[in-house]
Amino acid sequence: MIIEPRMRGFICLTAHPKGCEQNVINQINYIKSKGAINGPKKVLVIGASTGFGLASRITSAFGSGAATIGVYFEKPPKEGKTASPGWYNTAAFETEAQKAGLYAKSINGDAFSNEVKAQTIDLIKADLGQIDLVIYSLASPVRTNPKTGITHRSVLKPIGGTFTDKTVDFHTGIVSEVSIEPANEEEIENTVAVMGGEDWEMWIDALKEAGVLADGFTTVAYSYIGPAVTEAVYRKGTIGRAKDHLEATAFTITDKLKDINGKGYVSVNKALVTQASSAIPVIPLYISLLYKIMKAEGIHEGCIEQIQRLYQDRLYTSGAVPVDEKGRIRIDDWEMREDVQSRVIKLWKGATTETLPAIGDLAGYKTDFLNLFGFDIAGVDYQADVNEVVDIPGLV
Ligand code: NAD
Ligand code: NA
Repeated sequence: MIIEPRMRGFICLTAHPKGCEQNVINQINYIKSKGAINGPKKVLVIGASTGFGLASRITSAFGSGAATIGVYFEKPPKEGKTASPGWYNTAAFETEAQKAGLYAKSINGDAFSNEVKAQTIDLIKADLGQIDLVIYSLASPVRTNPKTGITHRSVLKPIGGTFTDKTVDFHTGIVSEVSIEPANEEEIENTVAVMGGEDWEMWIDALKEAGVLADGFTTVAYSYIGPAVTEAVYRKGTIGRAKDHLEATAFTITDKLKDINGKGYVSVNKALVTQASSAIPVIPLYISLLYKIMKAEGIHEGCIEQIQRLYQDRLYTSGAVPVDEKGRIRIDDWEMREDVQSRVIKLWKGATTETLPAIGDLAGYKTDFLNLFGFDIAGVDYQADVNEVVDIPGLV
């Protein structure tokens, strides 16, 4: 069929298999162009199908020749109905990895469940024995805790007071004022239950218990800090509480891994257009201003450039892993540069529907958003008839 983008709110209902494939191939080529990394050899990526998790899987495989297992939650295609983009991304990745002689298998299911954890452990035992890296890169609005059976839903709200500031609808380009009422205690707890570190710790506990973690094992989860303009809704809001919890969990995990010389890290990454971030109020406006400045400075990065730098310059240097005063790896260092941030603040004040197309990179935002679903990618023929039903070669 001929596949076109069909937007509804913050999501796109369709995805293009060839576009997703090209997207993955472009990322693989980028990693190959940067040369070999003396990195991990057997890797589990939880949240492996899109965004930072996909970039981590690609970097592991094509940067350091690693065998990879991916866990993700994606909608398979049906005759006449496209899959979600992570399905096509994974199909493309596993096809390319297997072509390159690299082990690549995956599990499509709820990573928060005991079943998917057990299934993953069985697969590691059968095929890899032990793993030396786990990347934890889930972004989800909901989690059922397998111990309690309770389903938690996260909210994106400020804490302590109503938040009012500018936001942009990136589809229309209209800048307007948004007001968000503060979260109550229960909403804060639910958000921490979904996006905090509890499930990450459960994964590491289960893997360790099963004896599948190699000596010197490393695990990394991804966090975000961001600037003052997004603080009320992000870092000091409900999601920030969850990130505080995730960051604290890195230390808990490191303690638990002492006997196998293991380490848990959080890496603070740059703000980027992903399915997760486009749903957060205010962030798209911030990103469109940030992109404009970082591109002008020649320091703009996407997920793949970020993760390449994480591996090459942070995790797998010959020396100690560089961290900040709170023990966190920082690959948001260019985003947070003083000169970059002071310019964002200036632009923020002048951002209106009329000025944004010139002072911000709204076009870049839109392109990145379409790219997530495999649209608007150079070299893809969108008039051509494509088969929407695509198999994932390593799907268990
Ligand atoms: P994303 O939406 O692109 O990726 C989310 C991944 O999680 C996908 O692979 C999806 O299939 C998987 N997933 C979701 N629910 C699942 C479930 N129940 N079971 C199994 N898999 C599930 O998001 P992203 O932006 O790459 O975010 C990954 C992490 O990076 C998050 O912790 C996020 O907070 C963090 N981060 C994001 C940004 C940003 O700007 N996007 C910046 C810094 C840090
Ligand atoms: Na991800």
